[in-house]
Amino acid sequence: MDHFLYRDGILHAEDVPVPAIAAAVGTPFYCYSTATLARHFKLFDEALEGTEHLVCFAMKSNSNQAVLKTLAGLGAGMDVVSGGEYARAKAAGVPGDRIVFSGVGKTREEMRAALEGGIRQFNVESEPELIQLSEVASSMGVEAPIAIRVNPDVDAKTHEKIATGKSENKFGIPIARAKEVYAQAAALPGIDVVGIDVHIGSQLTELEPFGLAFEKVAELTEVLRAEGHNIRRLDLGGGLGIPYERSNEAPPLPIEYGQLIKDKVGHLGCEIEIEPGRLISGNAGILVSDVIFVKSGEGRDFLIVDAAMNDLVRPSMYSAHHDIIPVVEPAAGAEQQPYDIVGPVCETGDTFAKQRNMPVLQAGDLIAFRSAGAYGAVMASEYNTRALIPEVLVHEDQFAVIRQRPTFDEMINRDTIPEWL
Ligand code: LLP
Repeated sequence: MDHFLYRDGILHAEDVPVPAIAAAVGTPFYCYSTATLARHFKLFDEALEGTEHLVCFAMKSNSNQAVLKTLAGLGAGMDVVSGGEYARAKAAGVPGDRIVFSGVGKTREEMRAALEGGIRQFNVESEPELIQLSEVASSMGVEAPIAIRVNPDVDAKTHEKIATGKSENKFGIPIARAKEVYAQAAALPGIDVVGIDVHIGSQLTELEPFGLAFEKVAELTEVLRAEGHNIRRLDLGGGLGIPYERSNEAPPLPIEYGQLIKDKVGHLGCEIEIEPGRLISGNAGILVSDVIFVKSGEGRDFLIVDAAMNDLVRPSMYSAHHDIIPVVEPAAGAEQQPYDIVGPVCETGDTFAKQRNMPVLQAGDLIAFRSAGAYGAVMASEYNTRALIPEVLVHEDQFAVIRQRPTFDEMINRDTIPEWL
């Protein structure tokens, strides 16, 4: 459930009519709903009620400061994957002891910054990383709390570009080698082993792969405890999928996912961390765009809109489906026709949907891409020298621009000219 609904025939974001935002900020723009962000965070928090836990928002899905502050205010921790994300989390007021640091390629500088600013744990993905972290922490005279990310070799049954838990993927260490690597970690200076980490992929629409991975983590916990490691925390990653196509079957609910966690690892008495991104931010955002032209092609009509692949890359990158709806609600039984919905970028891949049935639209009509709050703005680029589009946050009947659209001068002036030119 989200808070983007038609009211009096007009799409609203909570209590704000979407056309009012479009008139104020221009199109295209991202629009997020505070109530939806909060609702989705709470669904996870409540699903783990009764177990010591921390929901760490995977801020790679949406790292706007206002979004982070909204979630941090509800008690969320953050899962960060770069020095930049760490800095953003801190800038949003998230204390270090609520930040976990994931990622396969952490640099010495990133490790140092996190150890200086405070960190809940590093999720270590390889032996070289372990050794480097030991060196950095020892040189600073501190201990780095760590979990080792294990690769359970489980098929997440999702898009190949976002599956991470198979042995051929670059993530984590093979679970079969975990005993050896934990022994190595325990012997290294500057390392405090606190737990185990696993993440098998994103946009999972079934619980079964999670169950298989969590079972393997539970077994490993017992093995490592028997070896004398004080495993007290399990980071079970993110990845629960969202319904991108409302007409299709819905993925499992956070409450079912929480129950699965309790069933599979509850008996171990560990503190649980999860790292959901998409389920918290995805359906909390829409991308609003304007139809520039309706063009009749050979046997098909194109809706040429002012958003493009540089603003929302998911359709061209993963052939992802986003529901696209008109901002003015079509009358019941209104005529529909198929359109290819495309952006202005000079690539055929700049296509959001092919032969999508829509009510008949005209230049100047507003449309909204649903489920665009996760991996939307954060993956945007300035390709074709198109400005990064504004982000707006709605809270009940108020809205605020939470990132301005840069001017062309601001964009151009980031380049510097060498003196010989
Ligand atoms: N934890 C780790 C270690 C991750 O790598 C990810 C996502 C998450 C948590 C959060 O997963 P989520 O709950 O959002 O599924 N750009 C792609 C998705 C990439 C996901 C990468 N890792 C997309 O647009 O579908």
